[in-house]
Amino acid sequence: MKTRELQRIIESIPASDGAGVKLRRSLGAQPGLRHDPFLMLDEFFSDDPDDYLAGFPAHPHRGFETVTYMLDGHMQHKDNHGNTGDLGPGDVQWMSAARGIIHSEMPQQTEGRMRGFQLWLNLPAKEKMRPAAYRDIPSSQIPSVDGVKVIAGRYKGKTGPIHGGSTDPYYLDVHLSPGESFEAELPEGHGAFVYVYEGEAAVGEKSSRVPNRAAGLLSDGSQLKVTSKDGARLLVLAGKPLREPIVQYGPFVMNTREEIEQAIADYQSGRFSSEAIGKLTLPA
Ligand code: FE2
Repeated sequence: MKTRELQRIIESIPASDGAGVKLRRSLGAQPGLRHDPFLMLDEFFSDDPDDYLAGFPAHPHRGFETVTYMLDGHMQHKDNHGNTGDLGPGDVQWMSAARGIIHSEMPQQTEGRMRGFQLWLNLPAKEKMRPAAYRDIPSSQIPSVDGVKVIAGRYKGKTGPIHGGSTDPYYLDVHLSPGESFEAELPEGHGAFVYVYEGEAAVGEKSSRVPNRAAGLLSDGSQLKVTSKDGARLLVLAGKPLREPIVQYGPFVMNTREEIEQAIADYQSGRFSSEAIGKLTLPA
């Protein structure tokens, strides 16, 4: 049994996206700053409406999955097929953009706190051009055990609403009281990291410190151990690496430059708008 140790810290840096939403980006903040199969992690957190009101007006995606997890506030999404959905505190939207979706993500509040995350998870070449699909997962459908919310993958006998598939993702939200420790089994070979969004935590047998609002990339192993002297809240993410070439142009993530050019051409010619969008189903 091998414990995962801290390999690298990626501090989050202030960034802006959509129509000017202020956020903090760790993974994805620079080209190549990824952790296969993860492409990007944004944290948005503000009590000031000016930081988030502009939202994310209509924009396309192709070639990967976006996962939005709300902690506080209320966001509405709409897509090019007229589908609409609301995300409130604790809710998740798991969207497989695959060959194309155009959607908007707009705050439904004019005051108060808006806090949450958006994760970009890559898709393998053979799935990048499948029809888009997504699933809105209300907080009530996310199992919780010993202060851990299991959004994807498995923890202590609980299976999250998303599990399996080509990247077999794990997405846990962990709350640690002062002095408390957390241990989880993560499949060996999965790329894994933690993101500490409140307090500070220490990982591995070496108790290596992961600062506040930073991603801690982990070495391989089957066991994760996290402790926190003063208490912490953190995300634990793991997924099976794809080991494929990545060519990214903004919201398009493909394997080759030609595929990116095709994505731009398809978007400009309006082909994204006619794409079908389905309900995300789990692999058998
Ligand atoms: Fe989006």
